[in-house]
Amino acid sequence: MADPLDRPHVALPRESGSTGPSLLLLHGTGGDEHDLLPLRELLSPGAAVLSPRGTVLEQGMPRFFRRLREGVFDEEDLSARADELAAFVTAAAEVHGTPPASLVAVGFSNGANIASALLLRHPALLRGAALFAAMVPYAEPPAAELAGLPVLVSNGARDPMIPRARTELLERQLRDRGAVVTDVPHPGGHQLDPEALRRTAGWLASLPTR
Ligand code: MLT
Repeated sequence: MADPLDRPHVALPRESGSTGPSLLLLHGTGGDEHDLLPLRELLSPGAAVLSPRGTVLEQGMPRFFRRLREGVFDEEDLSARADELAAFVTAAAEVHGTPPASLVAVGFSNGANIASALLLRHPALLRGAALFAAMVPYAEPPAAELAGLPVLVSNGARDPMIPRARTELLERQLRDRGAVVTDVPHPGGHQLDPEALRRTAGWLASLPTR
Protein backbone atom coordinates (compact mmCIF):
# COMPACT_ATOMS: atom_id res chain seq x y z
CA MET A 1 0.00 0.00 0.00
CA ALA A 2 1.34 3.45 -0.89
CA ASP A 3 2.54 5.60 2.00
CA PRO A 4 -0.44 7.82 2.97
CA LEU A 5 2.01 10.61 3.79
CA ASP A 6 3.29 10.54 0.23
CA ARG A 7 1.36 13.62 -0.95
CA PRO A 8 2.48 17.25 -0.98
CA HIS A 9 1.79 18.71 2.42
CA VAL A 10 2.99 21.19 5.03
CA ALA A 11 3.31 20.16 8.68
CA LEU A 12 4.07 22.83 11.31
CA PRO A 13 4.86 21.89 14.91
CA ARG A 14 3.10 23.66 17.77
CA GLU A 15 5.04 26.73 18.94
CA SER A 16 5.83 26.97 22.65
CA GLY A 17 3.14 28.87 24.51
CA SER A 18 0.48 28.08 21.88
CA THR A 19 -2.73 26.78 23.45
CA GLY A 20 -5.27 26.71 20.62
CA PRO A 21 -6.48 23.63 18.73
CA SER A 22 -4.25 21.99 16.11
CA LEU A 23 -5.52 22.62 12.60
CA LEU A 24 -6.06 20.48 9.50
CA LEU A 25 -6.18 23.05 6.68
CA LEU A 26 -8.02 22.05 3.51
CA HIS A 27 -7.77 24.37 0.49
CA GLY A 28 -10.24 25.09 -2.31
CA THR A 29 -10.09 24.04 -5.96
CA GLY A 30 -6.94 25.31 -7.64
CA GLY A 31 -5.24 25.90 -4.29
CA ASP A 32 -2.50 23.94 -2.59
CA GLU A 33 -1.00 23.15 0.80
CA HIS A 34 0.26 26.73 1.24
CA ASP A 35 -3.02 28.56 0.57
CA LEU A 36 -4.58 28.54 4.03
CA LEU A 37 -1.40 28.71 6.13
CA PRO A 38 -2.01 32.42 6.95
CA LEU A 39 -5.17 31.32 8.81
CA ARG A 40 -2.99 29.76 11.51
CA GLU A 41 -2.11 33.06 13.15
CA LEU A 42 -5.67 34.33 12.81
CA LEU A 43 -7.48 31.25 14.08
CA SER A 44 -5.12 29.39 16.42
CA PRO A 45 -1.81 31.23 16.79
CA GLY A 46 1.24 28.98 16.86
CA ALA A 47 -0.89 25.82 16.65
CA ALA A 48 0.35 22.59 15.11
CA VAL A 49 -0.80 22.49 11.49
CA LEU A 50 -1.31 19.81 8.87
CA SER A 51 -2.03 21.15 5.38
CA PRO A 52 -2.23 18.53 2.61
CA ARG A 53 -2.72 19.15 -1.10
CA GLY A 54 -5.75 17.65 -2.81
CA THR A 55 -4.73 14.61 -4.87
CA VAL A 56 -7.17 15.07 -7.78
CA LEU A 57 -6.45 17.33 -10.75
CA GLU A 58 -9.26 19.06 -12.62
CA GLN A 59 -7.82 20.78 -15.70
CA GLY A 60 -4.55 20.99 -13.81
CA MET A 61 -6.14 22.40 -10.65
CA PRO A 62 -5.67 20.44 -7.41
CA ARG A 63 -8.82 19.50 -5.51
CA PHE A 64 -9.72 16.79 -3.00
CA PHE A 65 -12.19 14.71 -5.04
CA ARG A 66 -13.73 14.46 -8.51
CA ARG A 67 -16.93 16.19 -9.55
CA LEU A 68 -19.14 15.39 -12.52
CA ARG A 69 -19.87 19.07 -13.09
CA GLU A 70 -20.06 22.15 -10.91
CA GLY A 71 -22.00 21.30 -7.78
CA VAL A 72 -22.45 17.60 -8.73
CA PHE A 73 -20.00 15.44 -6.82
CA ASP A 74 -18.69 12.00 -7.74
CA GLU A 75 -19.80 10.62 -4.39
CA GLU A 76 -17.86 7.36 -4.82
CA ASP A 77 -14.66 9.33 -5.34
CA LEU A 78 -15.58 11.69 -2.51
CA SER A 79 -15.76 8.73 -0.11
CA ALA A 80 -12.57 7.13 -1.42
CA ARG A 81 -10.66 10.41 -1.11
CA ALA A 82 -12.06 11.03 2.37
CA ASP A 83 -10.73 7.62 3.40
CA GLU A 84 -7.37 8.49 1.76
CA LEU A 85 -7.28 11.74 3.74
CA ALA A 86 -8.17 9.88 6.94
CA ALA A 87 -5.19 7.59 6.36
CA PHE A 88 -2.98 10.68 5.87
CA VAL A 89 -4.21 12.23 9.14
CA THR A 90 -3.69 8.98 11.02
CA ALA A 91 -0.17 8.48 9.63
CA ALA A 92 0.72 12.13 10.26
CA ALA A 93 -0.31 11.74 13.91
CA GLU A 94 2.65 9.42 14.42
CA VAL A 95 5.18 11.46 12.48
CA HIS A 96 4.09 15.01 13.27
CA GLY A 97 2.63 14.67 16.76
CA THR A 98 -0.93 15.63 15.79
CA PRO A 99 -2.97 12.85 17.42
CA PRO A 100 -6.41 12.09 15.94
CA ALA A 101 -9.25 13.88 17.77
CA SER A 102 -6.84 16.77 18.42
CA LEU A 103 -7.28 18.34 15.00
CA VAL A 104 -9.94 20.82 13.94
CA ALA A 105 -10.45 20.71 10.17
CA VAL A 106 -10.64 24.17 8.57
CA GLY A 107 -11.89 23.80 5.02
CA PHE A 108 -12.73 26.30 2.31
CA SER A 109 -15.04 25.39 -0.61
CA ASN A 110 -13.84 22.03 -1.98
CA GLY A 111 -11.79 21.69 1.23
CA ALA A 112 -14.93 22.22 3.32
CA ASN A 113 -16.72 19.52 1.35
CA ILE A 114 -14.00 16.91 1.87
CA ALA A 115 -13.94 17.92 5.55
CA SER A 116 -17.67 17.14 5.80
CA ALA A 117 -17.12 13.74 4.17
CA LEU A 118 -14.23 13.11 6.59
CA LEU A 119 -16.47 13.93 9.57
CA LEU A 120 -19.26 11.70 8.32
CA ARG A 121 -17.05 8.72 7.46
CA HIS A 122 -14.54 9.00 10.30
CA PRO A 123 -16.35 10.69 13.23
CA ALA A 124 -13.62 9.87 15.76
CA LEU A 125 -10.84 11.37 13.66
CA LEU A 126 -11.37 15.08 14.32
CA ARG A 127 -11.99 17.34 17.32
CA GLY A 128 -14.26 19.51 15.18
CA ALA A 129 -14.52 21.37 11.89
CA ALA A 130 -14.95 24.90 10.56
CA LEU A 131 -16.51 24.80 7.09
CA PHE A 132 -16.38 27.87 4.85
CA ALA A 133 -18.38 28.06 1.60
CA ALA A 134 -19.57 24.52 2.33
CA MET A 135 -21.98 22.54 0.16
CA VAL A 136 -24.04 19.40 0.81
CA PRO A 137 -21.54 16.60 0.10
CA TYR A 138 -23.89 13.60 -0.05
CA ALA A 139 -27.45 13.29 -1.32
CA GLU A 140 -27.91 10.56 1.33
CA PRO A 141 -25.21 11.01 3.98
CA PRO A 142 -23.97 7.95 5.87
CA ALA A 143 -25.49 7.30 9.30
CA ALA A 144 -22.68 8.71 11.45
CA GLU A 145 -22.61 9.13 15.22
CA LEU A 146 -21.09 12.63 15.59
CA ALA A 147 -21.73 12.68 19.37
CA GLY A 148 -21.59 16.39 20.10
CA LEU A 149 -18.81 17.15 17.64
CA PRO A 150 -18.52 20.95 17.22
CA VAL A 151 -18.94 22.13 13.62
CA LEU A 152 -19.01 25.74 12.45
CA VAL A 153 -20.55 26.54 9.06
CA SER A 154 -19.95 29.93 7.46
CA ASN A 155 -21.56 30.55 4.06
CA GLY A 156 -22.26 33.77 2.19
CA ALA A 157 -25.73 35.20 1.52
CA ARG A 158 -24.60 36.03 -2.02
CA ASP A 159 -22.83 32.74 -2.74
CA PRO A 160 -24.04 31.80 -6.25
CA MET A 161 -23.19 28.13 -5.64
CA ILE A 162 -24.89 27.71 -2.27
CA PRO A 163 -28.44 28.99 -1.71
CA ARG A 164 -29.37 29.39 1.98
CA ALA A 165 -31.62 26.33 1.79
CA ARG A 166 -28.60 24.17 0.95
CA THR A 167 -26.65 25.56 3.92
CA GLU A 168 -29.62 24.74 6.15
CA LEU A 169 -29.79 21.21 4.70
CA LEU A 170 -26.09 20.64 5.41
CA GLU A 171 -26.51 21.89 8.97
CA ARG A 172 -29.59 19.72 9.45
CA GLN A 173 -27.74 16.63 8.19
CA LEU A 174 -24.92 17.29 10.67
CA ARG A 175 -27.28 18.06 13.59
CA ASP A 176 -29.36 14.97 12.84
CA ARG A 177 -26.18 12.95 13.39
CA GLY A 178 -25.38 14.61 16.71
CA ALA A 179 -23.05 17.46 15.73
CA VAL A 180 -23.29 20.77 17.60
CA VAL A 181 -23.51 23.17 14.66
CA THR A 182 -22.71 26.89 14.91
CA ASP A 183 -24.03 28.90 11.95
CA VAL A 184 -21.96 31.98 11.04
CA PRO A 185 -23.56 33.48 7.94
CA HIS A 186 -21.98 36.47 6.19
CA PRO A 187 -23.21 38.92 3.52
CA GLY A 188 -20.56 38.01 0.91
CA GLY A 189 -20.21 35.37 -1.79
CA HIS A 190 -18.12 32.22 -2.19
CA GLN A 191 -15.32 33.49 0.00
CA LEU A 192 -13.65 33.63 3.39
CA ASP A 193 -15.25 36.51 5.26
CA PRO A 194 -12.98 38.49 7.67
CA GLU A 195 -15.66 38.93 10.35
CA ALA A 196 -16.63 35.28 10.11
CA LEU A 197 -12.96 34.35 10.53
CA ARG A 198 -12.76 36.52 13.65
CA ARG A 199 -15.84 34.79 15.07
CA THR A 200 -14.31 31.42 14.19
CA ALA A 201 -11.20 32.29 16.21
CA GLY A 202 -13.43 32.85 19.24
CA TRP A 203 -15.29 29.60 18.57
CA LEU A 204 -12.00 27.70 18.38
CA ALA A 205 -10.76 29.23 21.63
CA SER A 206 -13.92 28.08 23.40
CA LEU A 207 -13.96 24.48 22.13
CA PRO A 208 -14.35 21.87 24.86
CA THR A 209 -11.46 19.43 25.08
CA ARG A 210 -12.64 16.20 23.53
C1 MLT B 1 -16.70 21.46 -5.00
O1 MLT B 1 -16.60 20.94 -6.11
O2 MLT B 1 -16.22 21.00 -3.94
C2 MLT B 1 -17.47 22.73 -4.91
O3 MLT B 1 -18.17 22.94 -6.13
C3 MLT B 1 -16.55 23.91 -4.66
C4 MLT B 1 -15.60 24.08 -5.83
O4 MLT B 1 -14.58 23.39 -5.83
O5 MLT B 1 -15.91 24.85 -6.72
